[in-house]
Amino acid sequence: MSKLSPSLLAANFYNLKEDIEVLQNNNIEYLHLDIMDGVFVNNISFGFPVINEIKKHNVHFIMDAHFMIIEPEKYIDRAKEVGCDIFTFHYEAVNNNKNIMSIIDKIHSTGMKAGISIKPNTKVDEIYSFLDRIDLVLVMSVEPGFGGQKFIEDSLLKVKKLKEYKDINNLSFIIEIDGGINAENIKKIKDAGCDLIVAGSAVFKNDIDKNIKELNKIIQ
Ligand code: DX5
Ligand code: ZN
Repeated sequence: MSKLSPSLLAANFYNLKEDIEVLQNNNIEYLHLDIMDGVFVNNISFGFPVINEIKKHNVHFIMDAHFMIIEPEKYIDRAKEVGCDIFTFHYEAVNNNKNIMSIIDKIHSTGMKAGISIKPNTKVDEIYSFLDRIDLVLVMSVEPGFGGQKFIEDSLLKVKKLKEYKDINNLSFIIEIDGGINAENIKKIKDAGCDLIVAGSAVFKNDIDKNIKELNKIIQ
């Protein structure tokens, strides 16, 4: 069974409480939070106060934070304070393997789960050496920065390769995918071996309740 992690980026920020309540009424466990700094990606999203308020009022969500930022190590403690449960940073944002290892250790020292994300042009082989320490791999199926883009098909090959590596080596990290996912392509994404599927527009556009039920029917 795969699970949805709805991406808040596509929610109606003028109506956030109501949008979130629809997720809760559908027993959504994960909430995907896209943090952007305008440097690692060409966009700026929301930040810690928003996460803090949501977590305070919705303690059961697993806060799945996706940091599209440079120098992620600077924000690990703050992320923990505001209620993030998973801290995912970008492999491309950190310049060497030693620093990646120390970021993973720092995330773990706070009690959060550590995730590593790769952009569409990064090969999965590049992160193999971290997979025995990591809790989650986030495969980007669009260029990070914006919602509403088209799914990049090659991402499925990356997921399959990761899944194979995971099984052969008896590892337990979660495989998550993010970008361009909708009711038409979610079945093959699930079948490729994704545990967690991020969906922004496909969840929050128009009727959220109907969207979630339709997507869940396909992946559960
Ligand atoms: C893009 C973000 C995604 C985005 C997905 O940089 O990481 O989480 O919100 O949006 P959709 O599902 O609309 O492609
Ligand atoms: Zn994301």
